[in-house]
Amino acid sequence: MAKTRGQDAFRPIGSVSLVLLQLLSGAIPGNGQKADFEVFGPREPVLAKVGEDADLLCYLYPNINAEDMELRWYRDQPSPAVHVHRKGKDVPEEQMALYQGRTTFLKEGVAQGQASVRIGNVTAFDNGTFHCQFNNGTMSAEATLWLTVAGLGSEPRIQVQVDQDGVVRAECTSAGWYPEPQVEWRDFRGQMFHSETNVSVSPITGLWAVTSSLTVPNKAVGGMACSISSPLLTEKKVSRHHLPDPASRWFQSTAWKIVLPLFLAAAILGATVACFLWKRERA
Ligand SMILES: *[C@@H]1O[C@H](CO)[C@@H](O)[C@H](O)[C@H]1NC(C)=O
Ligand SMILES: *[C@@H]1O[C@H](CO)[C@@H](O)[C@H](O)[C@H]1NC(C)=O
Ligand SMILES: *[C@@H]1O[C@H](CO)[C@@H](O)[C@H](O)[C@H]1NC(C)=O
Ligand SMILES: *[C@@H]1O[C@H](CO)[C@@H](O)[C@H](O)[C@H]1NC(C)=O
Repeated sequence: MAKTRGQDAFRPIGSVSLVLLQLLSGAIPGNGQKADFEVFGPREPVLAKVGEDADLLCYLYPNINAEDMELRWYRDQPSPAVHVHRKGKDVPEEQMALYQGRTTFLKEGVAQGQASVRIGNVTAFDNGTFHCQFNNGTMSAEATLWLTVAGLGSEPRIQVQVDQDGVVRAECTSAGWYPEPQVEWRDFRGQMFHSETNVSVSPITGLWAVTSSLTVPNKAVGGMACSISSPLLTEKKVSRHHLPDPASRWFQSTAWKIVLPLFLAAAILGATVACFLWKRERA
């Protein structure tokens, strides 16, 4: 226990002296010191939208030629990999099924120790940790990088029912989100409603679907907006539903559905009779 703590305490000092050594060896060229290499990836997670491409860039320090190395991008275990590029050639046999046909090796800069793998048509299953490993045959170094996937879902669909007492029941549905989205209902003055939201994940796409329901006892509400947002995206999806005011609600009631056909029938009958009378007059 004490030993571990001691090692932890010394680690920062160790890495500082390592950096100093590297700086010194870099500053004095041709001093004959063994030139080890390190691999780095992006410091921040790479953000990609569902369906778009994501480039996972890694580079060597110092920036020595990587053309004759084996470059391997992988997820949890080195094999099968996301993409393997060995001495200038892709090795598709070593790819996991999820990445077959979806990756491109970008070799610009490989002579300067830099390379990327482009993942096409990003899905929810690509979200998470990646590693890239550079191996020159005797030595290997690697870096860890993160891909954060964001999915903007479909336009929310609002369905509304108003019962005889004027109680409004609305339901809002949308799918295709990643990660889990937030749902909010507001009236047209911006006042928030309390609602109940259920979420589910599609086993096929890994994307989230939401169903949110709302019950408003107040007859005077002019309408509602259902707004869905992702914690990773600034863009939101909003749908609005206008409720007819109570006076015009009669037009949507069942009474109107009976009266309208009767009215039309009477009108047709009236026209037919008028036409018949007019013809008889002329004859
Ligand atoms: C691999 O890199 C190490 C460190 O730079 C070096 O000592 C070694 O000779 C290299 N091996 C080959 C086969 O180039
Ligand atoms: C992207 O992936 C989705 C889901 O797997 C698939 O339906 C779609 O056809 C793919 N698109 C392309 C261009 O490969
Ligand atoms: C997606 O990956 C990031 C790392 O890139 C991780 O922090 C996050 O928890 C993952 N999201 C989900 C929903 O698993
Ligand atoms: C949410 O799930 C519960 C339990 O399955 C169900 O009773 C409720 O009606 C659902 N609500 C919505 C808005 O789908």
